[in-house]
Amino acid sequence: MPAVGLGTFGSDNYSAAQAVRGAAAAGYRHFDCASVYGNEKEVGDALQDVMAGGMGRGELWITSKVWNDRHGDGEVIASCRQSLADLRLEYLDLFLVHWPFPNSHGKGVDAHSRDPHARPYVHDEYMRVWRQMEQLMDLGLVRHIGTSNMTIPKLTLLLRDAKIKPAANEMELHPHFQQPELFTFVKENGVVPIGYSPIGSPSRPERDKMPDDTVDIEDPVIVEIAQRHGVHPAVVCLLWATQRGQVPIPFSVKPSQYVATLQSVASDALTDEEMAAIAGIDQNNRLIKGHVFLWRDGQTWEDLWDVNGEIVQ
Ligand SMILES: NC(=O)c1ccc[n+]([C@@H]2O[C@H](COP(=O)([O-])OP(=O)(O)OC[C@H]3O[C@@H](n4cnc5c(N)ncnc54)[C@H](OP(=O)(O)O)[C@@H]3O)[C@@H](O)[C@H]2O)c1
Repeated sequence: MPAVGLGTFGSDNYSAAQAVRGAAAAGYRHFDCASVYGNEKEVGDALQDVMAGGMGRGELWITSKVWNDRHGDGEVIASCRQSLADLRLEYLDLFLVHWPFPNSHGKGVDAHSRDPHARPYVHDEYMRVWRQMEQLMDLGLVRHIGTSNMTIPKLTLLLRDAKIKPAANEMELHPHFQQPELFTFVKENGVVPIGYSPIGSPSRPERDKMPDDTVDIEDPVIVEIAQRHGVHPAVVCLLWATQRGQVPIPFSVKPSQYVATLQSVASDALTDEEMAAIAGIDQNNRLIKGHVFLWRDGQTWEDLWDVNGEIVQ
């Protein structure tokens, strides 16, 4: 898996497809897609242009994800086929279960919106989803399968019951949200951590902004290291990520940004002291809290994340 990918979810504010062509020309080979981002057709057109320009399919790493409303029997496979058709590809390098719940929400809703059919994690149901993921491997439609937004208790059950183990887990990871226990757990189990919102998602939708949220790229430690290296603080977040051993998938449609990101990651390095300083600024500040997926009145978003080590029902 290429060590840095380009996110394609534009936080409701941007269209990412136009960036795919430019980023591929700049050297990106890894693109993080999902059916729910609503732009796989446009991204597919961009990928066609990239390949028509001479890049082989084997040089690219394309990830997609099944959305929460397609967890039923047969639907995971149908969703993957749809993503393949939209992306105009014969196979995906990685296909992920986007969230471990079948709970969904409309586009652009606020944090108070709830799915009336929402329910907690049910392992038997998740395994029905996973069996379809395994079938996709058998069908040759995907090269690897993985998870996203999982917790240690949920992954423990999956690793116990899976015939084909997850190759990767996509999870929120940035200097103010380092998830050290989950990070260590996935590494120890041979699962690649893919870090989303690696810059702290400064342009995320309003529904995902809370008054207590902290801002990674304004942290004095990050700013000071950035000044020393002559780069934007965002780039420090990405250098930290790749050196720590996760695969960041920053979003950007601005050529100056995505070019700077790749150049720095390829040519610059943080010192051990700088890595240690960043390890010390974790704020446990989850940005993508997932309120809209809660299933009971009176719950808090922490219930989605099994913070006490047990799956919340
Ligand atoms: N699996 C999941 O559930 C999940 C959840 C969330 C996200 N994701 C994936 O992760 C990707 C990235 O996450 P994200 O968009 O939330 O957050 P992010 O990558 O942390 O932040 C993106 C923003 O950072 C700024 N930026 C990027 N590169 C920069 C640079 N070199 N210099 C300065 N600023 C820079 C841009 O802000 P400005 O636009 O303000 O300049 C950009 O919009 C998404 O696109 C999606 O593919 C997955």
